[in-house]
Amino acid sequence: MASQRQNDSSAGYQPLFKSFATDAIHVGSEPEQWNSRAVVPPISLSTTFKQHGPGKHAGFDYSRCGNPTRSCLERAVAALDGLCLTLLIGLALSSGTAATLTITHLLKTGDGILCMNDVYGGTNEYFSKIAAEFGLDVSFADLTKLELLKAALKANTKMLWIETPTNPTLKVVDIKGCADIVHEHNKDIIVVVDNTFMSPYFQRPLALGADICMYSATKYMNGHSDVLMGLISLNRDDIYERLKFLQSAIGTVPSPFDCYMCHRGLKTLHLRMKQHFKNAMAAAQFLEADPRVDRVIFPGLPSHPQHELTKRQCTGCPGMISFYIKGKLEHASTFLSSLKLFTLADSLGGVESLAEHPVSMTHVSVPENEKKELGISDTLIRLSVGLEDEENIIADLDQALAAAVSISKHIIFLHSLT
Ligand SMILES: Cc1ncc(COP(=O)(O)O)c(C=O)c1O
Repeated sequence: MASQRQNDSSAGYQPLFKSFATDAIHVGSEPEQWNSRAVVPPISLSTTFKQHGPGKHAGFDYSRCGNPTRSCLERAVAALDGLCLTLLIGLALSSGTAATLTITHLLKTGDGILCMNDVYGGTNEYFSKIAAEFGLDVSFADLTKLELLKAALKANTKMLWIETPTNPTLKVVDIKGCADIVHEHNKDIIVVVDNTFMSPYFQRPLALGADICMYSATKYMNGHSDVLMGLISLNRDDIYERLKFLQSAIGTVPSPFDCYMCHRGLKTLHLRMKQHFKNAMAAAQFLEADPRVDRVIFPGLPSHPQHELTKRQCTGCPGMISFYIKGKLEHASTFLSSLKLFTLADSLGGVESLAEHPVSMTHVSVPENEKKELGISDTLIRLSVGLEDEENIIADLDQALAAAVSISKHIIFLHSLT
């Protein structure tokens, strides 16, 4: 049953997922699981648990292998990705990067991993500078073009890594189209989707044929810029068992306090994402109509090359907007340093609006030729539109654009003096 639409901007998208808010608030928080009947799951700080006989424990033995607060969060994320809760099929890790590392450990030397060419800079760096040195055959392709995916598949391809929308140029990849192609090539290829930008509120990759869905929960899932966390959900118990083993054997586990915080953040994910979408749509429309801006990239705008795909695949769009400011590097720098409400900072997905310059911040490690090819240029600016009042967000963008334009006037004035 489709839920009621909250605003016009969500018209034409997939219907919202049933019972999302109820699951976000209740799954993993059942008072009956505790003798105390605590309504809010307690933070279980103990690193070790009493056994009633050697090797006989009541579900937990050592906190790296399992922790009650972490289990609550892991059950919640599985529910939000629409999974069957008879199996524990969520995993919480110490960061999004720790999730990437743990998932990559499913592979062996010589195995091939094919990755979307436009991904978070740290993911690109991990695959090309670390995983490749450990003997994985890493390649990148533009997965928005399914014919390029077909051409890039090799006999040794064991994993496909999709990020959609991509960071920072917000390309949208057809998850089902990719999963169908690779599974036809070899049904054992593991399709991973980094769902950090969309969150399960807007996109459920497992329902579209992916084998693993992962998040940098540092972003929207926690939502308050105060926790580093990775989350994984999946519906294959063979891969789950191996990942659970890897999580414990590698030790990529989060603290119980962070699990508590992230679980608390998940309970308002539905409200936050709705408002991020509404505010981002308003900001994107403002920027698109502004003559000081060259081009706006927001999957919710009809001008986005994969807007129709976004509507077919998702229930809406998050607060991420990228745009090219008119001018040069100085204009982008002046814009960014003139912002007053938006904070110039890395990261995204929190309640507060952030802005950044991918070429010199999040994507600085991406090789120059790749940056050029992907359009990560001096004038590209990435916004994470937060939950402040719409009119304040737009006023801040407006005044920072005015500041950027004023340097052109200053340059013309200086030229006129020479
Ligand atoms: C899309 C995406 N995936 C993964 C990561 C890595 O996550 P973390 O910073 O939590 O390690 C990030 C971080 O910005 C990201 O944006």
